[in-house]
Amino acid sequence: MREAWVVGAASNRFGKMADTGREAATRVSLAAIEKSGLEPKDIGYTFVSNCFGIAEHQAHVGPLINGGLGIPDVPSCTVESACASSSAALHEAFVQVAGGFIDAALVVGSEKLSHLDTLAATSYFAIAADYPFETRNGATFPGLYGTLASAYQAAFPHPPEMLGAIAIKNHANAARNPHAHFQREISMDTYLSSPIIASPLRLYDCCPFSDGAAAVVVAAKEFVKKPVTEPLVIRASARAGSITDMQDRPDLLGLPATKIAGAKAFRQAHMEPKDIDFMEVHDCFTIAEAVAIEDLGFFPKGTGVKAALEGVTVRDGRLPVNSSGGLKAKGHPVSATGVSQVVEVFEQFNGLAHGREVPKTGTALTHNVGATGGSCSVHIFSHR
Ligand SMILES: CC(C)(COP(=O)(O)OP(=O)(O)OC[C@H]1O[C@@H](n2cnc3c(N)ncnc32)[C@H](O)[C@@H]1OP(=O)(O)O)[C@@H](O)C(=O)NCCC(=O)NCCS
Repeated sequence: MREAWVVGAASNRFGKMADTGREAATRVSLAAIEKSGLEPKDIGYTFVSNCFGIAEHQAHVGPLINGGLGIPDVPSCTVESACASSSAALHEAFVQVAGGFIDAALVVGSEKLSHLDTLAATSYFAIAADYPFETRNGATFPGLYGTLASAYQAAFPHPPEMLGAIAIKNHANAARNPHAHFQREISMDTYLSSPIIASPLRLYDCCPFSDGAAAVVVAAKEFVKKPVTEPLVIRASARAGSITDMQDRPDLLGLPATKIAGAKAFRQAHMEPKDIDFMEVHDCFTIAEAVAIEDLGFFPKGTGVKAALEGVTVRDGRLPVNSSGGLKAKGHPVSATGVSQVVEVFEQFNGLAHGREVPKTGTALTHNVGATGGSCSVHIFSHR
């Protein structure tokens, strides 16, 4: 295997885009390629994620993006793994580059849903659960994660301020991120007085529906030779799956796919949780952040929920989590999310995270979940 690097990364501002998903994908791809010092002709494969392209009447968007980049002959494919789509695409790019099949790959995720109302967007998203068993019986993602939060509350009773502190932390970070959907801080009063969406989850426990696009360029060390940015060496690219249906799981106190992907990633990187300086984890709902940092091995079961309130995971804490604002406040344009986590690592490594710098940027981990954990990707990065 060859050493594979992320050499360029770009994101637009999440929220509501004037561009179509395809236009936004092309724009961020060009920006990522430009930053990398490579040229479009250097790209050997384009991996695209665009789960809900169908909501824009557009599938098979890869060739259209490549056409816009002036490389219509380059192969492309669309990778779908629900909310973990673009991290799955990154894994495929890593395999191709590290395996020596291509020298450089473009990974781009894009989503546009703002033309849909909440009911329509919720219904589209819910098809990523098990349609006959969950979706058709009324399950939605706020409802399913509300179930996880109830199970966690029953096993490890905690006051609402603990989940509230996760939302407050992530909004504070997003307020310093020009890519973020919600660039505003919230107070504990705002959190506690927000309406219940799916008990016990409140409005500020939930990620929003966001449009957005993000792209990275992955290239072989020997192909790049002299990088023009500080590259992210991909030390681990691990994926896992687990039983999709929550009713069939042995317990609801964690996501098995996170545990498996995390353990694989640490084995690949020859690292342990203590070696990680900061991370971006999948906080589609605040409870998901608490559970993720436990499943990844950073906190014992039942204690991850306290980490934000105790100041451990805040931006200048011992282990910053979601310095970008996370899905909660940076936003969650499903197919762009996994790659946008890597954009945050790229900006932190390259001194571009102005005003939201974390104290140590030697190593970073990204964690991206599909639906309620049917799929998961974990990546670990370090400097050269
Ligand atoms: C929480 C949720 C139900 C709110 O939807 P809604 O009640 O229809 O809200 P609206 O879109 O009408 O927005 C009303 C206001 O709340 C804000 N808002 C919406 N969602 C928000 C969120 N998650 N966090 C904070 N504010 C939010 C809007 O910006 C708007 O503010 P404004 O009045 O100042 O403009 C919706 O955002 C949701 O379902 N989120 C989860 C998405 C999801 O499941 N993703 C997949 C995860 S696996």
